[in-house]
Amino acid sequence: MTTLPALNYQSGFGNHFTSEALPGAVPVGQNSPQRPALGLYAEQFSGTAFTVPRSEARRTWMYRIMPSAAHPAYTPLARQIRGSEDGTPTPNRLRWNAFDVPAEPTDFLDGLVALARTAAAEQAEGVSVYVYGANQSMQRALFNADGEWLIVPQQGRLRIITELGLIEVAPQQIVVLPRGLKFSVHLLDATARGYICENHGCPLRLPELGPIGSNGLANPRDFQAPCAWFEDRQEPVALVQKFLGRLWTTTLSHSPFDVVGWHGNNVPYRYDLRQFNTLGTVSFDHPDPSIFTVLTSPGAVPGQANVDFVIFPPRWMVAQNTFRPPWFHRNRMNEFMGLIEGIYDAKAAGFMPGGASLHNCMSAHGPDHLTVQNAMAADLVPHKIENTLAFMFETGKVLRPSHHALACPQLQNDYDHCWDGMARTFGREPQA
Ligand code: FE2
Repeated sequence: MTTLPALNYQSGFGNHFTSEALPGAVPVGQNSPQRPALGLYAEQFSGTAFTVPRSEARRTWMYRIMPSAAHPAYTPLARQIRGSEDGTPTPNRLRWNAFDVPAEPTDFLDGLVALARTAAAEQAEGVSVYVYGANQSMQRALFNADGEWLIVPQQGRLRIITELGLIEVAPQQIVVLPRGLKFSVHLLDATARGYICENHGCPLRLPELGPIGSNGLANPRDFQAPCAWFEDRQEPVALVQKFLGRLWTTTLSHSPFDVVGWHGNNVPYRYDLRQFNTLGTVSFDHPDPSIFTVLTSPGAVPGQANVDFVIFPPRWMVAQNTFRPPWFHRNRMNEFMGLIEGIYDAKAAGFMPGGASLHNCMSAHGPDHLTVQNAMAADLVPHKIENTLAFMFETGKVLRPSHHALACPQLQNDYDHCWDGMARTFGREPQA
């Protein structure tokens, strides 16, 4: 196991942070002095249009050794992201076995596979969903002009070098990288695997709490942003960008991680999903799964998210006279699910860590028949669901699977059978 120094983080969601790797790097009282301290260049990094309401605005001022503009032209990268071609949309329910970690040397970027998307990357709303599998650290830097990235590691810890500092993230944690932020993913274990939600719409934020009150679900102070960190390295570095879904590359003469100080709220952050304050029923029936929303990107229709990030963490089940697993349902929204560890309480088998499922708008689904049988026969004593963590990217628009997702060997062609054998119980009175 690699031993690394403990990293420092700043606490809070959406804060206006200030961080300096060298004292005096960030000007006081203004953003763009005639000659910034330490011979640095000032550069604004905007995550939203200048004129959005103040509550929506995300921007960070960077004080760096070389401005980002100092780069030669980009040229198309020879190796593009697998799965970039759409497949034929299908109303069928889809499920995949765990995706492989490649055997050949593969870094995070080469290990990306596009599974589904709601819209082309240039749209100002919608999401794209990827999985990654890697066994090498990136020896290059990357930024994504197409949206912010919510990374959900399933296996292997990552150390992510970003322009604003270093972040480590492990399974059961998430990290969010703003649109356009330069970063490089390093592995802290032999292999890494996980999921990515690329959000083309409004940046993710905490959901409203309504009658829940001023505490609960993901609490703001548990989000962590990095502290300024830089390297002063004058040697060629490959910088790749994803632009309209295609990869382009250029070679810098210096490290892109040369930001000596910064201030602002357009920042990468991590969150430990074990800190989620899970709420649920203490009487009967369980609430809609929106009660498990960690982060949300609002859509154009009030209350209908562009994407919600929802988790199904360990929790107590105490509901009386209640069918305790997730009920059967047909939803307006579209559900991509993944499993980080354990067993999801709606599926007795077939939904595995590192795998995935997709239930699009109005597709009928719910617990498999074995789960139903067990739930209807269960003694409804308080019961704790443990050692499990599933999640969902729930989108307002239909997720169109990629050609790769529909052709890969992980696709289960027998998923529908998990509802075979549902017993006809019509006419039988419930037993007390
Ligand atoms: Fe569902």
